Parts: sequence; C-alpha cells; structure tokens
Amino acid sequence: MAAGRHGGRADSALRQVGRPVSIKDVARESGVSPGTVSNVLNHPERVTEAKRLRVEESVRRLGFVRNESARHLRTGNSHTLGLLLLDVWNPFFTEMARGVEDWAFDRGWTILISNSARQPTREAIYLNLFAERRVDGIIVAPHGDITERLIDLQNRGIATVMADQRGSGDTTMSVSLDDVHGGELAATHLLQLGHRRISFIGDPNQVTQVRDRLFGATKAVAASNLPVQLGVLEPTDLTVAAGRDIGEMIVDLPPSERSTALFASNDLVAIGIMQILLRAGVRIPHEIAIVGYDDIEFARQSTVPLTSIRQPAYEMGRSAAQLITAALTGEPPTPRHVVFEPELVIRESTIGRDTDPV
Ligand code: RIB
Repeated sequence: MAAGRHGGRADSALRQVGRPVSIKDVARESGVSPGTVSNVLNHPERVTEAKRLRVEESVRRLGFVRNESARHLRTGNSHTLGLLLLDVWNPFFTEMARGVEDWAFDRGWTILISNSARQPTREAIYLNLFAERRVDGIIVAPHGDITERLIDLQNRGIATVMADQRGSGDTTMSVSLDDVHGGELAATHLLQLGHRRISFIGDPNQVTQVRDRLFGATKAVAASNLPVQLGVLEPTDLTVAAGRDIGEMIVDLPPSERSTALFASNDLVAIGIMQILLRAGVRIPHEIAIVGYDDIEFARQSTVPLTSIRQPAYEMGRSAAQLITAALTGEPPTPRHVVFEPELVIRESTIGRDTDPV
C-alpha cells in the first residue's frame, strides 16, 4: 500500500479513499482515549495542556473534520437555519439575507438559503425540505398566509419567523415594516410637492406588503382633503421588466392624460419605468416625479437618483435571526412581532419641481 504523505503507517491506513478520519483514529494517533479527544473538541478545559496539544497536532496531521451530521443526530441541534426568500432577484431580500448570515456566522451556524420566487407551491416544497433536513429554525418571507404551516413546524420543534410580513398573536413571530405608514410617507411627499394626479404602480393582490402600501397612500390622500386623483396601474410582476411595460403604457398616453407623479410599489418597478420614460425624453421629475420603495443600492445609483421609502433590510434580517435565538434558548421573545418604521429618502426623482408646498 502506498505510504501516506508523511510516510507513516497511520497515514497510509487512513488515506483509504472515502474513509473519513474518525475520533478513534485521532485517539490512536495521540495515544489517548476517544473520550479525551471528544473533550478536547467540546470541553478543552477538562484536558491537560500536554494531551490537548497532542490531540490538536493529530487532528491537524490526519485532517480530522467533525461529523456535524452525527453530532446533530446525537444532540438534536443542527445549528442550521433555513432562510426562504420571496425573490432573490430583488436586492431587498439579499440584503435581508446578509443580516441573517452575519448573525449565523457570528455563532458558527449554517444557513440554507432558498427562493420561493413568489410561488406558493415552491414555497411549500422548500418548507418541507427544511423540515426534512431538521433545521433548528426557519426564517421565511412568505408569499401569502402560511401561519398554520408555521405553527405545524413549531409543533415539530422548529422555531419559525415570518420576515417582511406582520404576524399577530402569541403563536407566531415576525419582523416587518409598517407598510401602511410607508405608503402614507410616499403619498404625502408627492402631495406636498403639489402633485394632484398620482398613480400607484402595484397590484394589491400580489403580496400583502403592496396592498398595505396602497392603503397608506389612500389614507394620506383622504386626509389631505385636496382634489387628488389617485389611480392604480397593476404591473404583471414586481420586477424591472414589469416596470418597463408600465413605462411603455405611460409614454403611449398623451402628456395631458399622464399622472404627474408615480408611486411604485418597489424600487425595481420604479427603475424599469424610469428607463422607458427617460428613453422617451420625459423629464424626471419635472414632467413625471417617481417614488420607489425599499431604497436598494440601485435606487441611489440610478440615472436619476430615486426617491424611495427605505426598509432597513439588513436590520430586519438580524432581528429575525435574534427572534430565532430567543425561541431556541427558551427565552420568550418580547415582542414576538417586531415592526420597523419606514423612512422617506428624498432624491432627484421627485425634488426640483417648481411648486409651492401646499
Ligand atoms: O417582493 C415584493 C416587495 O415586498 C419587495 O420589493 C419588498 O418591498 C417586499 O416588502
């Protein structure tokens, strides 16, 4: 049998293809018991320094790697989270994932990131896969109402948190933004700039977040007691491409029939609309002002920097992960439903209109 890299018999015996180095191999190599090796790995304070150094040298020389699956089966803790995003194409969700991942990295946890692509069937498949993998917790940005499914998972010992959708009661946990207030902020900003013909670009039947944004805009218009037309244009999706389609519809209208301001249900849609308007020579904001939602990095960098309603995506992700921690350590999280406040970030896509404030 070919000698191993170091020429030792132990190495050659261990370099059999497909046979991972075990705790017993390390014990034999170090001249200690398997229990001592386990203590060096899990409770080094219980082992003398001389033995600890011998075991650590053998671990390095043999290339021993802990068998997390075996540890998981023994302890029941996988130290793994399932993170199910609604749309990985949307930088809002990848920024949220960054907040969860930083939390996991700080604790040596693993995350399984998946994308439901706003498809309920796909969402259900991934929730089942996470359960089969026996993750310790699941953070999900849901497409619709999956409260019952989450309670079922919790009854099987899996902590769950809804991200980006407000839950209620004491059987679930959630992290969300006050989207009604976000819609109010966007509409009030446009009203204060003097706009009276405003279009909301979003399908309130798509996701509850969009419905709440429209409701907030409607509340602000009603509270203003001003003669305002608030129309709704429903994009086929919440993407740049769907925004471009809405932009084409707008430029096909005679300027006199166009709204003077658009409130897009997210930044991706706003960016798509802006591409078409600018290509058609429409001046932003002087002919049409635009407000987006999420304040993703591209909003700041777009051709005409986009006014947007900021969601603290990173902080929302970390907050969801902290709720999981509380659930797993038995501390009753308070509150169970964390609601962040939106922030209006004003940029060139709305200011610059020579209108006296109302
Ligand atoms: O996925 C649609 C939208 O809902 C995202 O843009 C983000 O705003 C989320 O809340």
